[in-house]
Amino acid sequence: MVWRPIEPPDSVEQAIAENHATWDEIAHVHAQGSGADFYRIEQWLDGECKLGPWEIEEVGDVSGKSLLHMQCHIGTDTLSWARRGAVVTGLDFSENALIEARRFAEKLGIENSRFIHSSVSNAVSALGGEKFDILYTGRGALCWLPDLDEWANVCSKLVKHNGILYLEESTPFVGTLEPTETTEGVFFVPKYDQFNEGPISEIGEGTYADPNWPGERVTHCWEYRYDTIINALIKHGFRVISMVERDELFFNPWPDMFETSRPNYWRLKDGEVRFPLSFTLKAIRE
Ligand SMILES: C[S@@+](CC[C@H](N)C(=O)[O-])C[C@H]1O[C@@H](n2cnc3c(N)ncnc32)[C@H](O)[C@@H]1O
Repeated sequence: MVWRPIEPPDSVEQAIAENHATWDEIAHVHAQGSGADFYRIEQWLDGECKLGPWEIEEVGDVSGKSLLHMQCHIGTDTLSWARRGAVVTGLDFSENALIEARRFAEKLGIENSRFIHSSVSNAVSALGGEKFDILYTGRGALCWLPDLDEWANVCSKLVKHNGILYLEESTPFVGTLEPTETTEGVFFVPKYDQFNEGPISEIGEGTYADPNWPGERVTHCWEYRYDTIINALIKHGFRVISMVERDELFFNPWPDMFETSRPNYWRLKDGEVRFPLSFTLKAIRE
């Protein structure tokens, strides 16, 4: 998977439109094409859970609770929560992703689920002002949003008083470092500027689910530091009650240096110097 930088578009709207086109294009690839192995679709349809064990533990009992999954993609995580008894709503701006999510819900006979087509920006009106017990998001979600202040504001309007927001994301290390070949071996060096406020715009082939997928895609991502995420949540009425970093990650950005740690998770191979790869954060809406 070779990716090269390109000039960011003139406007955020254009960046989002190009990301939207990309997500619409790869939804079917992830659900029923060459990316389905990464998503472990067969195993998941057979009953395997897509959630990390720590997610289940940290979110707690979801049975009978309303759970909104923002940026739900093809619904595999959303429906994993539904299998645990939550009444789930998935929201995403990719219609093709939602077609797959609804198809899965029907195939599995999961009735306590619905999927709503909306951008994060328009989520409050798309959901008619409804508030949820739990807002779940992440695993490659925040990097697609240009404005975390707006995101946190939207989240604050979607979570009930004393409800929770829970997310799992890759750490700023993963967003900054890139393995680089030197005469003395391969080393991680900082590549992306964590204080850059514009998008990181790139073009390349493949997706995280299938690096060999031949379609060429343009992506515009925003890398976030912890302070940006946490301060946005605090500003919009959340109290962060826990944050945990882990040496496992929900995708495999560097196949030469990573190995599978458990289904749906990877970690650095033995002998590599470890650094935090992912984190979870739980916050209460006050
Ligand atoms: C990596 S996926 C979400 C992660 C999910 N855990 C998964 O892998 O199934 C990112 C999702 O964000 C959605 N997305 C990106 N930008 C969005 C926006 N502004 N509003 C709503 N959805 C958006 C994309 O359509 C995509 O389905």
